[in-house]
Amino acid sequence: MSWFSTFLTSSIGKKLVMSLTGLFLIVFLLVHLTGNLQLLIDDGGRQFNLYAKFMTSNPFIKITSYGLYAFILLHAVQGILLWLKNRAAKGGGYAVNNTKATNTVAGFAKNMGWLGIIILVFLLIHLYQFWLQMKLGTLPMVNYDGVEVKNLYVPVMDAFSNIGFVIFYVLSMVVIAFHLWHGFQSSFQTLGLNHKKYTPFIQFLGKAYSILIPLGFALIPILFFLRNS
Ligand code: HEM
Repeated sequence: MSWFSTFLTSSIGKKLVMSLTGLFLIVFLLVHLTGNLQLLIDDGGRQFNLYAKFMTSNPFIKITSYGLYAFILLHAVQGILLWLKNRAAKGGGYAVNNTKATNTVAGFAKNMGWLGIIILVFLLIHLYQFWLQMKLGTLPMVNYDGVEVKNLYVPVMDAFSNIGFVIFYVLSMVVIAFHLWHGFQSSFQTLGLNHKKYTPFIQFLGKAYSILIPLGFALIPILFFLRNS
């Protein structure tokens, strides 16, 4: 085994993988939310569908997407392994130390595994509903000024006209908020980026992010439902 794989399978290596993949997923969520907010434009899905077409045909974004799938898998598998190991050792979360500053997040840290598993279930349902339909489903086509695109707006409309799915999405966003609340600052802590001046700012940014991003996602099904019902 090379030093690199030895490092990656060590405890600190696993935490580093969690931290770096987590930060990548944090950036992804911001981009994903920005794109999805186009669903709220009252244009029958035109801008959203053209955006989805761009996202699935641009070569750079396509390659980034493969990285995203790999990072989601890595984050989930490593997270579950670390969580099981910590549970067996009765040690709690993966990036908790005993300093006063981190004690406040220890409660969330302990539940990171459960929160992560719920998010994984959400993600599987979510990907089946939209992503798989875009990739393999038989979506109706729509023509915008001579450009034929898949009408991804249709499955979104179907899902968010259903109150059950609206509630499911909103509750899942609450779980994501709790996961991010701990995960954001934990990833910086794991990287050793502790600084007298910048750490309070990172903590504030993490808290603001953990509330605003899930809130933005939750508003989409709610507003969609209210508009179309
Ligand atoms: C209201 C909330 C959300 C809406 C309306 C939404 C919508 C969509 C749609 C329409 C797609 C298919 C896009 C395509 O294939 O081009 C998609 C893909 C995806 N979504 Fe969401 N999403 C939401 C929340 C989330 C959340 C919270 C997460 C993560 C926890 C997430 C993770 C993903 C991933 C990983 C993909 C695949 C992306 C890719 O292929 O590059 N989504 N989403």
